[in-house]
Amino acid sequence: MLILGIETSCDETGVALYDTEAALLGHALFSQIDMHADYGGVVPELASRDHVRKLLPLCDQVLSDAGKGRADIEGIAYTAGPGLVGALMVGGAVAHSLGFALGVPVLGVHHMEGHLLAPMLEDNPPAFPFVALLVSGGHTQLVRVDGIGEYEMLGESVDDAAGEAFDKTAKMLGLDYPGGPRVAALAEKGTEGRYRFPRPMTDRPGLDFSFSGLKTFTLNTVNAAREAEGLTDQTRADIALAFEAAVVDTLTIKCRRALEQTGCKRLVIAGGVSANKRLRAGLEKMADKLKAHVFYARPEFCTDNGAMIAYAGAQRMKAGQQDGERIVAVPRWPM
Ligand code: KG4
Ligand code: ZN
Repeated sequence: MLILGIETSCDETGVALYDTEAALLGHALFSQIDMHADYGGVVPELASRDHVRKLLPLCDQVLSDAGKGRADIEGIAYTAGPGLVGALMVGGAVAHSLGFALGVPVLGVHHMEGHLLAPMLEDNPPAFPFVALLVSGGHTQLVRVDGIGEYEMLGESVDDAAGEAFDKTAKMLGLDYPGGPRVAALAEKGTEGRYRFPRPMTDRPGLDFSFSGLKTFTLNTVNAAREAEGLTDQTRADIALAFEAAVVDTLTIKCRRALEQTGCKRLVIAGGVSANKRLRAGLEKMADKLKAHVFYARPEFCTDNGAMIAYAGAQRMKAGQQDGERIVAVPRWPM
């Protein structure tokens, strides 16, 4: 079955073609980052309008690059939520119109399920069951995964998501949106051990997270440094490193707990923050000690993309799932 995947939940227009027999045939992404950068964050109305401009041309490009045409499509999967409602509606409208015109099934899928399953597109994908750490701009969750659709929430953030904390720290340090990769790059120039930031909620049992206190701690540190010495480039790098180390340590401690608690030997990390090199290294070191393995997607499939939606949709469509006639767009949607 040849599935077209469409992702438009936020600021990336992603399209992919997934063949349930022959794997991923192609994918393309148009990022709106430059357009939103002037505003310091995503402007929802601009995002929707740009998806309208880019989506169909991107679909046709992916099809022709793979030597296929619209008539070859046998199913269409699109992100139905969570995300920006206008942006979701664009993807849903295109998916349903194409599906109606071609007479093929259409299915709205959960964006976070897409992230969760993205590592399945790599060589040596993880077998079920596994523990998944989902770390994106809007979510920080630990999930036990026993199969497609068999998800047990083990813990989640009670306030900010890890990616959100990276983005806010970036702003405090005068870095552009999206902040995660920029904080990580600045941290590479940081001095180890100059600052020590808290590891929130690691001193009590449980698998929930909290990152808003860390954000306040960062703000206070930045302000104190600005008053004391005018916030030099070296101090900014030192703060970036201390912040990143605190997030990585916190996530690593909770992942170790989740592996021990469930007895799972496989840890999957997914979502934008899973592209972070220090996080990958920290988790791998921890997993080695437990004789466990860490799985993640290639960097371009950690952040938003069409391939993960095509894959997640394909798994569900193989099992016979499809939408009714209505477009599904659910801005807030727990997994
Ligand atoms: O999964 P994603 O592309 O979008 C959402 O579904 O939210 O995640 C985006 C988030 C942003 O907060 C971004 O700053 C963060 O992932 N991010 C990173 C890195 N790359 C992206 N955070 C830390 N280190 C990175 N290398
Ligand atoms: Zn995402």
